[in-house]
Amino acid sequence: EKQGFRHFMLKEIHEQPGVVRACLETYLNPDWHAQDRPAFSPINLGIPPELYDNLEHIQILACGTSWHASLVGKYLIEQLADIPTMVQYASEFRYAPSPITANTLTIGVTQSGETADTLAALEAEKQRRAGLEPKYAPQLLGITNRPESTLARMVDRIVNTQAGIEIGVAATKSFMAQLMGFYFLALDLAYRRQSLPIEKLALIVEGLRQLPGQIELVLEKQEPLIEELAHEFAETQDFIFIGRGINFPIALEGALKLKEISYIHAEGYPAGEMKHGPIALLDSKVPVVAIAVPGSVYEKVLSNAQEAKARDARLIGVTAMTDRQAESIFNDLLAVPAVDELLSPVLTVIPLQLLAYHIAARRGLDVDQPRNLAKSVTVE
Ligand code: M6R
Repeated sequence: EKQGFRHFMLKEIHEQPGVVRACLETYLNPDWHAQDRPAFSPINLGIPPELYDNLEHIQILACGTSWHASLVGKYLIEQLADIPTMVQYASEFRYAPSPITANTLTIGVTQSGETADTLAALEAEKQRRAGLEPKYAPQLLGITNRPESTLARMVDRIVNTQAGIEIGVAATKSFMAQLMGFYFLALDLAYRRQSLPIEKLALIVEGLRQLPGQIELVLEKQEPLIEELAHEFAETQDFIFIGRGINFPIALEGALKLKEISYIHAEGYPAGEMKHGPIALLDSKVPVVAIAVPGSVYEKVLSNAQEAKARDARLIGVTAMTDRQAESIFNDLLAVPAVDELLSPVLTVIPLQLLAYHIAARRGLDVDQPRNLAKSVTVE
C-alpha cells in the first residue's frame, strides 16, 4: 500500500530511483564496453534493425505528461540520432494530421495505454497509410507502462517502461520511465546509424548508470528544504516555470504537476519567450521557477531569470549543486547534481514534483485524486 507515505504520489516520487534501476537492468546491455567497439548496441530494446534502416522521420503522438516526455524524446532523437522528429498532441493530430511522409516511424506514448485520443490518432495513422506503397506503410511503436493495454495490441511493438502500477493521478514515476525509454531509443538509433562518436555514446551510457544514486541524493537533500519552502506558497495564486532546450519540457511538466494537484494557476514557458508577452504578468506575487543547469543554454536562462527578478518576481532556481554563481541570483535554490545536459531532465524534474506535492499537501488537498481528473482519460 502506501508504505508509510502520506499519499501514493509521494511514494511514487520516491520509487523513481528503483524505476530507473529497473529500466537500466532491462534495457542496458551489461556486456557492452565502448573500448571493445562491439558489433552490438549498448541497448537491448528488441527492435529489429530493419525498422531503423531507412528511417527518415519520426512522429510522436501523446497527451499530457506523456506529451512532455515526448518533447524530451524529440530533443534526444534529433541531437543524438539526427532524425527529424515531430511531436503532436494526439487530440490535434487525429483531426489535422500532417502530410504523409515516407519511411516514418510513428510512436504512441501513453502510460496507461488506454488514452482515447492517443489510440484514435494511432488508428487514424494506420488507416490512412494502409495499402500505400511500402515506403509509406505504417510502422507503429508504443511506449507504455501497460504491456497488456489496448495500445500494446494495436502497434507493431512496444517499449515496456517498467515503472510498475502508478496509482496517483499525477504521473511521476511513469514519466521518469518514459524518459528512460527515450534515452534507450535515441541511443539505440544513434549506435546503429553511427550518428554519434562511440566515446560520447559511452559517456551517456555511463551517465545513465549514475542516475539512480543521483535521484536518491536529490530526494534526500532537497525534500526537507522543499517541504519548508512549500509553506510559503500555500496562498500563492500564480506560478511561472521557465526552461530552455531539453529542460523546456520540464518547465511544462513542473507547471502541469502544480496545477493539477494544487489548483494553482501555473504556466511553463521557454525562457526566451517571456519577453514576448508573459513577462507582463510578473510582479512580487508571481514566483518564477527557472531551470538553470550547466549546458548550452545556462547563461541564456540566467539572463532570462534576471529579467524576471527585475520585475520583483521571487526567483527559485533549479541549479547544479556545484553552482556558486546561482546563489547570488536566486532567492531559493533547488539543487541537483551537475550532469551532462542531455541527462539533466531526469534530475531537474524531481524538485518540481516535490514542490507541487508539498504545496498541494500543505493546502490539504486530495493529492492522489484531484478534482475533475481521472487516471486514464478513456473518452475523447
Ligand atoms: O495514460 P497516458 O500517459 O496516455 O495519460 C496521458 C495524460 O492523461 C496524463 O499524462 C495526465 O496529463 C496526467 N494526469 C499528468 O500528471
